[in-house]
Amino acid sequence: MSTASDARFWDRISRRYANDAIADQGGYERTLERTRALLRPDDHVLELGCGTGSTALRLAGDVRRYLATDLSAGMIAIAREKLSASPVPALAFEVATADDSIRETGCFNAVLGFNYLHLIRDVPGTLRRVHGLLAPGGLFITKTACLGDMNPLLSLALPGMRLIGKAPYVSVFRQAELRERVSAAGFEVLAVENHASRGNDRRPFILARKGSPR
Ligand SMILES: C[S@@+](CC[C@H](N)C(=O)[O-])C[C@H]1O[C@@H](n2cnc3c(N)ncnc32)[C@H](O)[C@@H]1O
Repeated sequence: MSTASDARFWDRISRRYANDAIADQGGYERTLERTRALLRPDDHVLELGCGTGSTALRLAGDVRRYLATDLSAGMIAIAREKLSASPVPALAFEVATADDSIRETGCFNAVLGFNYLHLIRDVPGTLRRVHGLLAPGGLFITKTACLGDMNPLLSLALPGMRLIGKAPYVSVFRQAELRERVSAAGFEVLAVENHASRGNDRRPFILARKGSPR
């Protein structure tokens, strides 16, 4: 299994994913508003694992440049259809991952990744790469599922579900471990928040900074 098989999984479900309702609309809106408040009009923003581009389409109008990327060509095709229907000049969608295809090292003011980090095979390596992509003082903003803090039956069921093509690759870690990994990649963790509109959904919003304030 590899990122190529991950791409096939996400390509296959992309149309269905595009039509799925957001599970916690209130929590999503809170994340969006919190993120928007952190971005500045001159910012160059990179989003990783952007899916069908819903978040990018909501945020890109407020910044100078917004490059939204995803591993899956199927997801990016849908995102581009949405962009053609509602153009945002600052926004571009590209098939890309943090590992290779983004060559603009050290120039983004913010890197965003929502519902993304737990799907990455090499989380420490990806976090180091994100750190390298950011300009000094740049922000890393993420919200991701910490399966290590969820019902253990879910983690037990995952290998079987993956075998029959019903689940993607998933990294299992706890919130404390994720926070530690973000720090180990060189970031200062500024905030860890719960944005769920009901209870605690085990998907912490993490705000981290590279180096001194921007
Ligand atoms: C659960 S969806 C989240 C999409 C969007 N960020 C959102 O919050 O709705 C996860 C996305 O991550 C993408 N993805 C999975 N592995 C990836 C990787 N290694 N690099 C970039 N994107 C990846 C998938 O193609 C998918 O679009």
